[in-house]
Amino acid sequence: MTRRLLLGAFLFHPGGSHVSGWRHETAEPHRHVDVDYYADFAETAERGIFDTIFLADGLYFWDRFPSGVDHYGQTRLEPLTLLSALAARTSSIGLAATVSTSYNEPYHVARAIASLDHISKGRAAWNLVTSRYPEEARNFGGDEHLDHALRYERGAEFVGLVQRLWDSWADDAIIADRESGIFADPDKLHVAEHRGAHFAVRGPLNVSRPPQGYPVLFQAGGSDAGQELAAATADAVFARSLPFVEAQRFYAGLKARVVAHGRDADDVSILPQLRPVVARTSAEARALAAGILASTPDAIVVEDVAHSIGQALPDDPDAVIVAAPDTDIANESKSPNRRLARLHSGERLTPRDLYAESFWESVSVGSAQEVADDVQERFENGAADGFVVQALTQPQGFRDFVDLVVPELQRRGLTRTAYEESTLRERLGLVRPARRVPEPVAR
Ligand SMILES: Cc1cc2nc3c(=O)[nH]c(=O)nc-3n(C[C@H](O)[C@H](O)[C@H](O)COP(=O)(O)O)c2cc1C
Repeated sequence: MTRRLLLGAFLFHPGGSHVSGWRHETAEPHRHVDVDYYADFAETAERGIFDTIFLADGLYFWDRFPSGVDHYGQTRLEPLTLLSALAARTSSIGLAATVSTSYNEPYHVARAIASLDHISKGRAAWNLVTSRYPEEARNFGGDEHLDHALRYERGAEFVGLVQRLWDSWADDAIIADRESGIFADPDKLHVAEHRGAHFAVRGPLNVSRPPQGYPVLFQAGGSDAGQELAAATADAVFARSLPFVEAQRFYAGLKARVVAHGRDADDVSILPQLRPVVARTSAEARALAAGILASTPDAIVVEDVAHSIGQALPDDPDAVIVAAPDTDIANESKSPNRRLARLHSGERLTPRDLYAESFWESVSVGSAQEVADDVQERFENGAADGFVVQALTQPQGFRDFVDLVVPELQRRGLTRTAYEESTLRERLGLVRPARRVPEPVAR
């Protein structure tokens, strides 16, 4: 089978993946809780023959810094509820929701995602996260966020248990024989009776087996624990956008972990972030990107850097940072922290320096050909199996990608021009997992 580039359409901040994308002249900031706004996004992604839409999420309102309220456009709809509505407005595209294993219960999650898989006729996916911020813990009775190692341990038990609950019913367990009055075959029902370190769940699920068997599992953890969980359980991994050589190293390292877990390297697809800014000409695209960066309020520049290095900073975005030696944000993420590494190496940097450099490093700017070149190079040189496309502005930035870059990728034979398979699992070339339950005890 020819290797095909996978595409996911990402949405977190409804105005676009750049935090002040909502300020762009083409943005529609008053429509962030309007289902038709999201249906338009999903239909645009389906027009681009994307494999899935991917709704990121967090169980908090970001107000640790004033800019969170003043400048972030972060009110949005809950992913699973929204995807159920979008299932009716689309026919082929995958529907991936971010759901936390730290602040949810396995029975709820198994039931909701199985229901979405039935509602969408086999297009549901789950982006498993363990959450990051103490602000999330405070919405679920805690003061501090769960310890990093503990939450990944809980996450591993959680995902195994959800799959066991999806295995409650055999595909042919429902008989519904009016004549005899028998609705289901008890020998084809499995009661989990799970007792683990974090959960005690009897089961069975009261939703029959999902069309995909197991809805597709995405993950986005970048730490050692995150990559280990993904290598053992995920179908695809969303990765941070990294410079080319680092991206190749991350790709090779994660594939090696997958094989070390006794799986085939191709069982897990790696989809880094792609933050495209595309226009008819390179100069136009560069000007567009510079305009988006310039639309970022100074307060966000300072507070974004302060958050990422775990250190309070003066309001002036042009003041050289005096890095405190002992800042600790490791419980939020154990992925490599590039900004801190540079500051601790003694470089004299300002918040504006760091913010602008991260911005330009993270975007792919240019004409359709130039962005397609960047994509093709990474796809063909062991840095990606596909990309999660995070348009900086919505809806226009994403429409530009679908109208300009997708036809170029299709012309190069990298992506397809029509949907063929019916379920997301089939489309990703993944087998439908067999039901894993112990043989029934003879009654
Ligand atoms: C492309 C991408 C998308 C992500 N989406 C989410 C999300 O929707 N919700 C969330 O809580 N974390 C999200 N994360 C963060 C990860 O779940 C994880 O917290 C982060 O990568 C740190 O991982 P670590 O704890 O393994 O270091 C995302 C990360 C990436 C790279």
